[in-house]
Amino acid sequence: MSAEDIIKDYQDILRQYNILNQISKTVASTLDLNKILKIILTGVTLGDGFGFNRAFLFLIDRHSKNLKGRMAIGPSSADDAWKVWSEIQDKNYSLEEFLDSERFENEQQLSFLDEKIRNISIPVDINMVIWKCLEDGIPRNIDISSTVPGGENEATINSVKEIEPAVLFGEVKAPAQDNLIQVININDAALIDAELAEYMDYPKFCIIPLISRTKKVGILIVDNKYNQREITPDDIKFLLLLGQFAASSIRNTIIYNDLKDSISALSKLNMKLNYLKDYNEKIIESIPVSIIVVDHNFTVTQCNENCGKLIGFEKETFIGKQINAHEIFIDGVSLIDEIFKVIRENKAEGFYKVNMKINGEKTDEIFDIILVPFRFSEESPEGAVIIIENVTNTVRLETELGNAKKLSQLGKLSATVAHEIRNPLIAIGGYAARVKRKFLEGEQTDIGNLEIIIEEVKRLERIVNEILDFAASREIKFSHVNISNLLLECINFAKAAAEQNNIDIVFECGSELVENANLHVFGSRDHLKQALLNILNNAIDASSKRDKIRICITTDGKDSYYDFPGSGHGGQESFSSIFSGCRTEGEPECIIIYVNNSASLSNREDIKNIFLPFYTTKTKGTGLGLTITKKIIEQHSGAIEVCSSIENGTTFAIKLPLLDI
Ligand SMILES: Nc1ncnc2c1ncn2[C@@H]1O[C@H](COP(=O)(O)OP(=O)(O)O)[C@@H](O)[C@H]1O
Ligand SMILES: [Mg+2]
Repeated sequence: MSAEDIIKDYQDILRQYNILNQISKTVASTLDLNKILKIILTGVTLGDGFGFNRAFLFLIDRHSKNLKGRMAIGPSSADDAWKVWSEIQDKNYSLEEFLDSERFENEQQLSFLDEKIRNISIPVDINMVIWKCLEDGIPRNIDISSTVPGGENEATINSVKEIEPAVLFGEVKAPAQDNLIQVININDAALIDAELAEYMDYPKFCIIPLISRTKKVGILIVDNKYNQREITPDDIKFLLLLGQFAASSIRNTIIYNDLKDSISALSKLNMKLNYLKDYNEKIIESIPVSIIVVDHNFTVTQCNENCGKLIGFEKETFIGKQINAHEIFIDGVSLIDEIFKVIRENKAEGFYKVNMKINGEKTDEIFDIILVPFRFSEESPEGAVIIIENVTNTVRLETELGNAKKLSQLGKLSATVAHEIRNPLIAIGGYAARVKRKFLEGEQTDIGNLEIIIEEVKRLERIVNEILDFAASREIKFSHVNISNLLLECINFAKAAAEQNNIDIVFECGSELVENANLHVFGSRDHLKQALLNILNNAIDASSKRDKIRICITTDGKDSYYDFPGSGHGGQESFSSIFSGCRTEGEPECIIIYVNNSASLSNREDIKNIFLPFYTTKTKGTGLGLTITKKIIEQHSGAIEVCSSIENGTTFAIKLPLLDI
């Protein structure tokens, strides 16, 4: 090689390095992927650059993994080519000048080639040369102008000298022999994707793999369709250098943009989180209760303004501090002790209509307080939520309502009392006057008149007694009461009254329970006797001659009264669930007494009103019997209900807790 040739070679190398330098400088100034691709393709095609006629870029689609056409630069016809080149030549642009120029910046208009390449998608097919190229990192020089069908495939291997494979391919296995870079010449059209061949519309082109480290980025294709200049090994040598630079720039930009997208998604998420936090806080703030959340160390982790006001501190100064720094008592019970209990037993606790004493200060306000165990996540230990509601106004209203009700009842009572007393008084007055007149006239006193007076006085006495019972003025003393004996006594007492009307009182079930005489309750014998007699007397009152009054006693409330009227079996009316069993968890054993007579209550309204004071259907009734009975049963922690139907008559059920002796 002559000295001139060597100088020319070096000048060429210098020029191409200069081009690379200019491209890399411009690429470094932007993070816009489209612009970077355009700079690279312009560098490849501009006369002052590598001067190829056309350049095409395909990138690997991250979803489909196909090679997708991304950008193309080059004239779409020979005429067009001359026009563009002459224009650039006129302006005498250098590559650097052109990349910096407004024309490059503003050139939005898409060429026909560029528009078309975006529709091309080359699916993964390892037999196709374009994919092989990406696989082994070796450029392919294609010439399918003289393709013979079934001819030789990969024909010759060209070696491009003087470039270190490690420099070019990074970690890609360099297919080099003797430190030389290989270019494979292809002349079999079958190895070119048909869509690509049709798009290229020119049989000679070169495929350069774009690989950044081991990551396949895409493919650069160049050709010289319009001046038909052969692509030389020197061209390929520099295209490889450019390809490597392009691959890493493209990859870095993609990573950067992904990162930017992630950051913006993250900041959106952050905004949403903040919004949710605000939203939740607003909810907690807007409900008219005080809320405190404490962790297992009694540290306040959350509370609302209302709570701050209640404790007498700013909400902010309360959060993060120990709640036991404050002395808070609920009706004398320490709140801290209760929190401890709720956390330890993992069970909610409620205090209703209570007073609070906070840091030594007691108010007249009344509160409902609920403590609930709380765990924020699986990992975090248990804490508690305390909800405090000021119910002072509600309680005041309730009391006022209660008073009003009492007053109205009092009014009704007075009217009935007056009415009830007036009738016997008129009778007594009338008969007493008659006795006096007869006495003055010297006539014999009619003993019948005196008996009427005595009867009416008895009636007056009864009314007064019942009113006194209703008004609860009779003292109630509790002791152990043998309910078996008491029941027998009452039944025998009632039997005497029933016999006069040929009414039969029979035990349908559970007679052994009263005969064994071993059931006890804690209560007042007198009051219970009154309650039981009221029920039995009402049953007698409601019965016609030769009717039957049926009694059933049970201590489990289930099968023993299976067929008893009111048990709910066989489509009957039934009692509420409290009568379906006695042994619910945590409850003492109990006795249920059922009393049935065949007369039914005339309608549903009767059943509703039957326990109300002064409800009576009897001419001489007071309507207080059942009201008093219900009150007595409830004073003994029991319950009473009634069930009535035409088929089964009326059944009363009384439930009382038994003593465990
Ligand atoms: N076993 C029963 N069968 C049918 N009706 C009854 C029975 N017990 C009570 N009643 C109805 O309930 C009303 C209220 O009873 P009660 O409160 O004892 O007052 P009184 O017996 O003075 O009428 C009775 O008047 C009667 O109509
Ligand atoms: Mg009665």
